[in-house]
Amino acid sequence: MATDNNTLEAKNGDSCHSCKNRRTILSLMASGLTCIVSSYAFGSSLLTPSQMLGPFYPEKIPLEHDNDLTTVSGNYGISAGEISHLIGQVLTPNGSPVIGAKIEIWQCDAFGQYKHPGGGGGQDPNFQGYGRTRSGVDGQYRFKTIKPVTYPGRTPHIHMRIVSKNANLTTQLYVKGERLNDRDFILNAIRNTRARSSLIIPFVHEPGFPPDELVARFDPVVAG
Ligand SMILES: [Fe+2]
Repeated sequence: MATDNNTLEAKNGDSCHSCKNRRTILSLMASGLTCIVSSYAFGSSLLTPSQMLGPFYPEKIPLEHDNDLTTVSGNYGISAGEISHLIGQVLTPNGSPVIGAKIEIWQCDAFGQYKHPGGGGGQDPNFQGYGRTRSGVDGQYRFKTIKPVTYPGRTPHIHMRIVSKNANLTTQLYVKGERLNDRDFILNAIRNTRARSSLIIPFVHEPGFPPDELVARFDPVVAG
């Protein structure tokens, strides 16, 4: 049976875009109704901590939802922003690959808008906004997207959800070196330093990739 430690967070929503909603979240946190951190030692690696689903998960999965978010059918341009390859392996705590996990990501465009009625609707017609894929036989996955940018109230982040045989994880990824990370109340709700750091990844140039594109590596650890 899938482990779902996001249920409460999904109900609470991502109230990061207004002070009123921020107070609501803080209130919920104070009352112990959130379960931001689900990262406990289990075997040799920490489980990847969960974070709230947020309000901008698509209301309907778009027809185009492949793992390249930087192009949109019918348009000839590419997304604004810094093109980035998000790649990694889905692993269990003992390092075994998780095969066939469904991995979804969604994020705002380079102008800070989500392709969602509540998130501005999307300003960049060439940015898909949402994509999904499945991990391969070695647990590997990849997305082509943009380096996330900030929007009011949040440090840059990419939302990710992973559903596998034994796991149902919703989390958020952050950019190493972003000055707003230290002030982001959702990221810093993870009190365990090691768990919090596991969600902060570098976006860097790497050999073997186009010189003007970035690479971000993230290996989520789930129950299996
Ligand atoms: Fe968000």
